[in-house]
Amino acid sequence: MGNQVMPREQLGICAEGNLHSVYLMFNANDGVEEQLRPSIANVAQYIYELTDQYTDSAFNGFVGIGANFWDTFYPDARPALLKPFPAMNEGNRDAPAMEYDLFVHIRCDRYDILHLVANEINQMFEDLVELVDEERGFRFMDSRDLMGFVDGTENPKGRHRQQVALVGDEDEKFVSGSYVHVQKYLHNLSKWHRLPVKKQEDIYGRTKADDIEYESEDKPLTSHTKRVNLKDPQGNSLEILRQSMPYGSTREQGLVFISVCRTPEHFEKMLRSMVHGDSDGNHDHLMLFTKALTGSSFFVPSLDFLIQFDD
Ligand code: HEM
Repeated sequence: MGNQVMPREQLGICAEGNLHSVYLMFNANDGVEEQLRPSIANVAQYIYELTDQYTDSAFNGFVGIGANFWDTFYPDARPALLKPFPAMNEGNRDAPAMEYDLFVHIRCDRYDILHLVANEINQMFEDLVELVDEERGFRFMDSRDLMGFVDGTENPKGRHRQQVALVGDEDEKFVSGSYVHVQKYLHNLSKWHRLPVKKQEDIYGRTKADDIEYESEDKPLTSHTKRVNLKDPQGNSLEILRQSMPYGSTREQGLVFISVCRTPEHFEKMLRSMVHGDSDGNHDHLMLFTKALTGSSFFVPSLDFLIQFDD
């Protein structure tokens, strides 16, 4: 970008973890694009401003545009690598696709603020969209998944988060945007809790209580961290930034898995390695205890990209 000013990213992409989250999935009503474009810009701007207003409670969020909706939303150009969710299936391991037109992701350390903002956003969209799914996430203990293991330890840190998550000069029109994948996983916790702790640890390749990584040679090829720890031909790690949180009620609970990245390819390769495994058929044994219910692909443009439609 030379000396040009970088477009502002939507602040929820790289934000640190929070105590609470709300996930709103919308589909657009037919023929409303002209009104919806400024409405999306207003919502993204509103979320951006609240981040300043509620710094004490670390409010943040973003608005994503569904891969299948992108051309309707903005027919003039498409992020170079944007494509629908890479659905896959092998044996009883299923990663189905379930696309939505819009994804509003808001997080905060105060649940009351989040609740008010979620209602406000719904009103801002008026009758242009239909809310098709809503989940609320929460921090569980010391940032553990509901299976009891700390989740997020190996995430990129500091400014490296931006390098991993945000599109750079490689796609000039979409600098500071991000490719986002969301999967809602439903856990089988009664089956998981019947497994001895050592076996659970082998499935992650990490210890449970103190979250220590196994030595590489001690990690089973079927462990989650083995399957998702991938390298390119030059030996560089393929990275994503995970913004997942536990969700649910006593009836249905699991993880809203969220990957944000400057390319959709890393997520796809990791998921392929989990579901299809390596050439010897070593797939991810975590998937014996959890099931993906949805799979959605979005692009989250920079704030400056979106507000060009603000009328
Ligand atoms: C690591 C949980 C799905 C990618 C981890 C860790 C946990 C975890 C506990 C270890 C601590 C950490 O570094 O964060 C889960 C659960 C999932 C899930 C409960 C689903 C129910 C996925 C998916 C992907 C993924 C779908 C990508 C396609 C990663 C990556 C790491 C990781 C890249 C870091 C590995 C490393 O560098 O050691 N996950 N995960 N996870 N997971 Fe997942």
